[in-house]
Amino acid sequence: MFIITIFTGEELSIVENNKISHVAVVGSGAMGSQIAMVCALAGYPVTLQDIEQESLDRAKAFLKKQMDSRVEKGRFTRVEVDSAFDRLSFTASIEDLSNANIVIEAIVEKLDAKRELFAKLDKIVAENTILATNSSTIVSSKLADVVSYPENVCNIHFFNPVLVMEMVEVVKGPHTSEETAAKSMAFVESIRKTPVLLKKEISGFIANRILGKLMDEAVFLYENGYATHEEIDLVCKKALNHPIGPFALMDLTGIDVNYFVRMQRYNESGDEKDKPARIVAEKVEKGELGKKTGKGFYEYDEKGIRVGVLS
Ligand SMILES: NC(=O)c1ccc[n+]([C@@H]2O[C@H](COP(=O)([O-])OP(=O)(O)OC[C@H]3O[C@@H](n4cnc5c(N)ncnc54)[C@H](O)[C@@H]3O)[C@@H](O)[C@H]2O)c1
Repeated sequence: MFIITIFTGEELSIVENNKISHVAVVGSGAMGSQIAMVCALAGYPVTLQDIEQESLDRAKAFLKKQMDSRVEKGRFTRVEVDSAFDRLSFTASIEDLSNANIVIEAIVEKLDAKRELFAKLDKIVAENTILATNSSTIVSSKLADVVSYPENVCNIHFFNPVLVMEMVEVVKGPHTSEETAAKSMAFVESIRKTPVLLKKEISGFIANRILGKLMDEAVFLYENGYATHEEIDLVCKKALNHPIGPFALMDLTGIDVNYFVRMQRYNESGDEKDKPARIVAEKVEKGELGKKTGKGFYEYDEKGIRVGVLS
């Protein structure tokens, strides 16, 4: 069955104006580099910008290695990967983002830095360009007041590692237009991810709020001597069918990340309950941050393979 849509001249110009033909990603770290690659693989011309040339070089080398390994495993053809790299450009100059129809910000998780960047972008991009933040916690209303068209601002939150994880949370703030939300959802689908729209903004969104509650309960049970952290991880895996237990997950993402997220929440609320858990603070003090330091709740060899359990 064919569906023919007939546009009036005015509607046609809206569709044309709203077409995303160029994507910009700001911040070429762990998240931004992979977001840019996913967009390029989906067929978009992409510009990846960072203030640090070294970070751009690192991103390029990382992505080459990642994509070579996927070609070897037969997940992509060499032609698909080479043409995606042809569509992907790297730059240290923010002015190069002027032709983007959507900008995805993935810079350091600091509100001031993000506000400064959004104010700069406001002067560079066209008036109907979507400005999205990939922040894990900061809602877009904290950024929207520095730009001329707050209706174009929203959260588009990817999960790490972006090359693998399918889910993307799109969050509509009170300032975000229906059109921006709809376009963002369609854009996420077009890069072969699965979007979910949060109709109202809330810090932490869905996945990380639920995960936070799970972590809190796991830490409570451990700190109060109901079971060891290894046993709690085992229950989550075997009874709840989670692919990884909460303590092993903290080791993977970095125990310091959990610590900083809780400190940020405590600083905002002043509520003692929001402070990092005792065991988390102790691990951070000892420099046992998980896989990246070789020690966390478990012990790891230099290849990151688990070799022991710590208390
Ligand atoms: N790492 C995760 O698991 C994860 C998951 C989801 C969302 N996030 C969010 O994504 C964002 C980026 O996280 P990350 O882990 O990729 O960080 P990262 O530290 O790996 O990378 C940040 C990059 O931003 C660059 N940068 C800093 N200020 C800049 C500026 N003004 N303009 C351009 N580039 C700038 C840095 O040079 C660095 O390359 C954060 O907001 C974070 O909350 C992270």
